[in-house]
Amino acid sequence: MQLGVVGTGHVGLVTCVTFAEFGHDVIATDEDQAKLEKLEVGDTPFFEPGLSELLQKHRNGKLTFSHEKRSLTDADVVFICVGTPPRASGEANLAAVENSAREVAGHAKAKTLIVEKSTVPAGTATRLRRVLRHERPDLRDDLDVASNPEFLREGAAIEDSLRPSRILVGADSGWARERMRGVYEPLIDKGVEYIETDIATAELSKHACNAFLALKISYINAIARLCERAGADVEMVAKVLGSDERIGPHFLKAGLGFGGSCFPKDLRAFDVLARELGYDFTLLRDIAKVNDEAVDAALAKVSDAVWNLDGKRIAMLGLSFKPGTDDVRFSPALELARRLIERGATVVGYDPHASEPAQAEVPEIEIAASAEDALAESHCLVLATEWPEFRALDLAKARELMAYPVIVDARNFLDGREALQAGFTYYPVGRPRLAPDE
Ligand code: UGA
Repeated sequence: MQLGVVGTGHVGLVTCVTFAEFGHDVIATDEDQAKLEKLEVGDTPFFEPGLSELLQKHRNGKLTFSHEKRSLTDADVVFICVGTPPRASGEANLAAVENSAREVAGHAKAKTLIVEKSTVPAGTATRLRRVLRHERPDLRDDLDVASNPEFLREGAAIEDSLRPSRILVGADSGWARERMRGVYEPLIDKGVEYIETDIATAELSKHACNAFLALKISYINAIARLCERAGADVEMVAKVLGSDERIGPHFLKAGLGFGGSCFPKDLRAFDVLARELGYDFTLLRDIAKVNDEAVDAALAKVSDAVWNLDGKRIAMLGLSFKPGTDDVRFSPALELARRLIERGATVVGYDPHASEPAQAEVPEIEIAASAEDALAESHCLVLATEWPEFRALDLAKARELMAYPVIVDARNFLDGREALQAGFTYYPVGRPRLAPDE
């Protein structure tokens, strides 16, 4: 099939390369000409495992890039993957979605299907359909809209797209449904669950999924706060919860809370949408509140450990919002860094991939070239993002490098016993602190 993709951000670019891998011919457009030129020579604009390899494989073959929406004229299906950043009110800004759809429609042939892949509030498709009809009255029943929400996780995006746990398609006309089955035929043939709904249900499902996952994280973080007060162990509580198959073990990792471009933004947008629909979804605001408390709790531990923050050097290992990505949007690590800096501390950060974007986001952070450099003369090690390489940290050596022997493990990632043996006082999340005899 001939497919078009508008927007080459995280979702768009991953969509392009995976559709090319399925054997479709894909043309991707973006308004950023410089970015397209880089993509043409195989340069990826962000770090995502496996992306670079697929881009190299398909660029100038199954996958081509163009600055012009006109190039999408022959596409059977065009996926809109542009950003939907939050407005100050929390509602999603859909101007780019609207403009993209209008431009695509302006050049479209009959029976072009325009698909929302960006996360959009329920009701967007109805508005888009209006835009299409206004733009192309000549193709009134020959342009249609579908919703195909994305469930990929950053850091595992290629794997999630090539082998998804399910595909969700919302469409209201027979030909739109048939077209979408054509797009996903290679996965349907492999037995991947393919769920077809009406458009409003698909749009709402995406919000419901992200909010529920965020709820699970906040639930376990609230339990962590209780465990810290009761002397219980949140890791064991999570194990008990997870062994009930009605609950399941996933997304019950207590830590520094969720960040990224999806959960924080989607929660707010869902809250605004619910209010617009006349329902006060207070639970969503509680999820966000508990998430903020996770950063407060880490801050309190650092303060407890080093006493006055003024003039203290805090080594922060991990700056991205989660491992496997260089994305620092809404990163809880950076939120913690900001709060530490506000209170007079110096934060020396190290991240295997996200140092540069972190520095751009919080210029006051000092960036170290290695974990060891960050630790030198520091008064506290904060493990903020659980990059696998931090597991190999030589704690005995870290102890020698640091000014104070303190670790705040905001992701329960390091081995507490080992830290204790190396002479550290170790503050985990939702479990008792480990301290040498004081
Ligand atoms: C999330 C969803 O997982 C995807 O299904 C969805 O497609 C995507 O949003 C989206 O809407 O586009 P993503 O933001 O890439 O994906 O990352 P997640 O792996 O879900 O992690 C989100 C945050 O939650 C991270 O900061 C992570 O550290 C945190 N987290 C996750 C926890 O603190 N505990 C957990 O148990 C799981």
